[in-house]
Amino acid sequence: MRQEEIVRSFQTAGQGHVFAFWSELDTDERAALVAQAAEIDLDEVARLYRSLVAEKASPVSAAGQLEPAPYEPLPEKGGDAAKWQRARAKGEEALRAGRVAAFTVAGGQGTRLGYDGPKGTFAVTPVKHKPLFQVFAEKILAAGRRHGRPLHWFIMTSHANHAPTEAFFAEHNFFGLEKARVHFFRQGRMPAVDFNGKILLETKGTIALSPDGHGGSLRALHRSGALDLMAREGIDTLSYFQVDNPLVRCIDPEFIGFHLLERSEMSSKTIPKAYPEEKVGLFCRQNGKLIVAEYSDVPMELQREKSADGALRFSAGSIAIHLIDRDFARRMAAGGEGVALPFHRADKKITTIDAAGNSVKPGKPNGVKFELFVFDALPFARSPLVIETRRADDFSPVKNAEGVDSPQTCRDDQLRQFARWLNAAGAHVAVDGTGLPQVKLEISPLFGDDAESVAASWRRLAPRPPIQENLYLE
Ligand code: UTP
Repeated sequence: MRQEEIVRSFQTAGQGHVFAFWSELDTDERAALVAQAAEIDLDEVARLYRSLVAEKASPVSAAGQLEPAPYEPLPEKGGDAAKWQRARAKGEEALRAGRVAAFTVAGGQGTRLGYDGPKGTFAVTPVKHKPLFQVFAEKILAAGRRHGRPLHWFIMTSHANHAPTEAFFAEHNFFGLEKARVHFFRQGRMPAVDFNGKILLETKGTIALSPDGHGGSLRALHRSGALDLMAREGIDTLSYFQVDNPLVRCIDPEFIGFHLLERSEMSSKTIPKAYPEEKVGLFCRQNGKLIVAEYSDVPMELQREKSADGALRFSAGSIAIHLIDRDFARRMAAGGEGVALPFHRADKKITTIDAAGNSVKPGKPNGVKFELFVFDALPFARSPLVIETRRADDFSPVKNAEGVDSPQTCRDDQLRQFARWLNAAGAHVAVDGTGLPQVKLEISPLFGDDAESVAASWRRLAPRPPIQENLYLE
């Protein structure tokens, strides 16, 4: 479409104000604004505003009774130990065959943390202050070495953080990974609207566009050519994790094995909810399908319900760790009749401009962003599977600047994990009642990334270093 046509289509849709400052823009600014406008599907925006904002409809069907979703319990919780062993063997075989790639979604805005820069560059480890990206890189490197097959790593960025993310990796020499195996691609974006459905401007010449949610990853994988690259390389499984969780087992053979043995198209990890009011999504069954129900969509009386044995009936919390089949991602990206992720609405404080064009930073939400969630793909997947994991070995995200899920809680959880591994290996690390060591220490994933590998490396060490402040094992 030519410039005039785009401007006209916005006027017809009642969004002509997007070009209110046209006469003040120079040629380049005009071209940039039009390019942004051309990204927007005006019908989609109108439809989303109508249903999610004006009519306040729930994006996911509320019809259908919620039942707790079944999941594969850990061996120590009554699971079948032999099955877990078979899964591990299967997963290791797939890793040796190069069928698995790591996939990090890193396109979020990280507003709660309030850190200036891509979240993956945030320093998280207790002694070396390694950035999140380095922790994942070393885990991926370790998994590749262990299975004799280096892994590919896909990283989804946003328009805002793509360039700084790439530059960060280049600056750090890809943390020892082969550059050709690290692939960055941008996710899509959506315009923010005010409570009357008007598209918000960020400046006189730019629209307030924001990333389309982690669920945008499925279409971005397709659009970017990542799925084609996977097919060429013989990779059929993506190990999906979020950029904010350094505890995650990026590459987990048991999880991969379960996923492949069950021929699942999308698998997930769960941890039991700590208490009924804990604000996590819940794996449920509804109308015969596996779903993640958002905390706010499950009635409190259901969340408090107990089974005969006294345990919470709805206890399977979602921690945003998945395995995704390549062809499933392609099918979801292609869409088609009845196959589409629903958009969710999020009311946010969106920096915008007033009628005179002056920048306004609102004190309370002034508009709505539209986002896709990756777990909404679950009901479309064949044989979706959920396995239990240990919180202490897989989940401690950095979400907030302070309090729960903050850099402090995450650092402490890493310290507890390092101390636990070392003590299991026969070292003597003094810990408090919560398992927190009395000295600050750190273990590189290249030394060991689970109890077994840490014990093996520890046994080989001669002489063994004393357990003291700032001990670093690499
Ligand atoms: P969060 O839901 O924690 O959102 O993202 P966020 O944007 O990072 O942080 P806040 O809410 O502004 O504080 C969970 C994961 O999903 C990724 C994030 O990068 C993080 O790894 N994500 C989120 C995307 O990749 N794209 C998005 O559009 C949203």
